[in-house]
Amino acid sequence: MKGIILSGGDGKRLYPITKSITKQLLPIYDKPMIYYPLSTLMEFQIRDILIIVKPSDLKLFKNLLGNGSKFGIKINYKIQKKPAGIAESFLIGEKFINKSNVCLILGDNIFHGIPYKEILPQNSNFNGAKIILYKVQDPDRYGVAKFNKKNKIVKIIEKPKKFISNYAVTGIYFYDNKVINFAKKLNPSNRNELEITDINNYYLKESNLKYFKIKPGGVWLDAGTEKSLLQSSLFIQTMQERQNIQISSPEIIAYNNGWISKKKLISSVTDINNSYTSFIKNS
Ligand code: G1P
Repeated sequence: MKGIILSGGDGKRLYPITKSITKQLLPIYDKPMIYYPLSTLMEFQIRDILIIVKPSDLKLFKNLLGNGSKFGIKINYKIQKKPAGIAESFLIGEKFINKSNVCLILGDNIFHGIPYKEILPQNSNFNGAKIILYKVQDPDRYGVAKFNKKNKIVKIIEKPKKFISNYAVTGIYFYDNKVINFAKKLNPSNRNELEITDINNYYLKESNLKYFKIKPGGVWLDAGTEKSLLQSSLFIQTMQERQNIQISSPEIIAYNNGWISKKKLISSVTDINNSYTSFIKNS
């Protein structure tokens, strides 16, 4: 399974914060936002990762994450020239995906306390698609799953005006290789984007869309508005301080996964003393 992080978009909902700084590099408490989706992919044991960025951001991301070797992974970069929709990831990433399955995660999605092993499609011959659902109070902000009486999804609707269910489609998606062909068939939506929801509905038509509902206790935050950006920081601060843990540190996950040695772990932060690095040093 290969991984893609989509970190494009204008972040207009956060204007003027995002006028000169890209959303996915803003801080979520003590780390850049991109560390969280990157950590999620690493928790899924995915080590070959493509980050899709805006032309002006390439240097900034490379400066922060490099080629991934400090985290024991491989990071490639590609440019999205204009924010043309989430599903464009599979066109931009076609060569990178090659013949593999792929997990796409959105650059502003933060997960904590979710069961990675249960969520990850287990079968190496995985076919179809798997989406991850989360019960929310404000489903009109998201792609939402409509169920029938047998609890089967009958349709995914993007930002429904009428209530259809509380189950939002989160920004982690697993697809087999057919996703590239589906992406090629898409037409832009009313908001002029290639919609990920249309891809999911293609799989649904083929009866090949699986889903996992995150149970209460698991946390999903989409840090794309000023309110959720602040809430995300406060959540991370509270959890880290009260539980004395470090959430979504790629260095620590790499070390725990056995991908880097203790020496390499510590060497990346030897001369920096703050609460983030002290966690790394004491891992
Ligand atoms: C996008 C997707 C939507 C999904 C959401 C998750 O919304 O289109 O289906 O529920 O991400 O964060 P957007 O960020 O484009 O509004």
